[in-house]
Amino acid sequence: MLTILDRLGDQESLDKIIDLFYQKQLEDPVTRPFFTNAKLPRIQQMQRSLLTMLFCGQTTGVAFYLQESHAHLVRDHGLKHEHFAHTMTNLEAALKECGHTPALVAEIMMLAWNLEDAILGNRKIRSMQGTLVDALRLQQEALGEADTVVKANPEGDKPEKADE
Ligand code: HEM
Repeated sequence: MLTILDRLGDQESLDKIIDLFYQKQLEDPVTRPFFTNAKLPRIQQMQRSLLTMLFCGQTTGVAFYLQESHAHLVRDHGLKHEHFAHTMTNLEAALKECGHTPALVAEIMMLAWNLEDAILGNRKIRSMQGTLVDALRLQQEALGEADTVVKANPEGDKPEKADE
């Protein structure tokens, strides 16, 4: 059976959806405030990785990862159902504008709505369960620490001198 990613077309089609979705999140007065201090290129990169895995059918660990990465928004900024519902409307509009079939849009929306409890922490998920989270965490570290690594070693690795 074809995965959602296969049916979307290719990685470029997914990138187009993510760009349009974020444009709508930033235009929407209900969701915009959450992104005031957020590093958008980084979030979009993480979204891209997460959705690629999710749309290939890899769901292990997704709920825990999303619970952890949105917990501070629930705790400190009052993220709740109203914001999630607007986010879903924005995602659906982006999918439709990209020209995807009603059946595919409905399937993706069902998947996205199923993540609400995890994102809002309505039902505590306690374990990491698997490798997806590990892969995303490694990527997160790589993105977050790229500057530090470059600054710490500006000249790059020098070959060790051979004994003379
Ligand atoms: C199905 C729904 C959602 C998915 C799949 C999703 C996915 C993601 C991903 C993958 C990240 C990057 C996490 C990381 O840094 O490792 C992220 C971060 C973020 N998301 Fe979501 N998200 C969803 C819903 C929402 C909603 C409803 C809001 C608010 C209206 C929101 C606001 C944010 C913000 C502000 C960040 C950046 C957090 C930070 O770095 O401090 N997300 N999201």
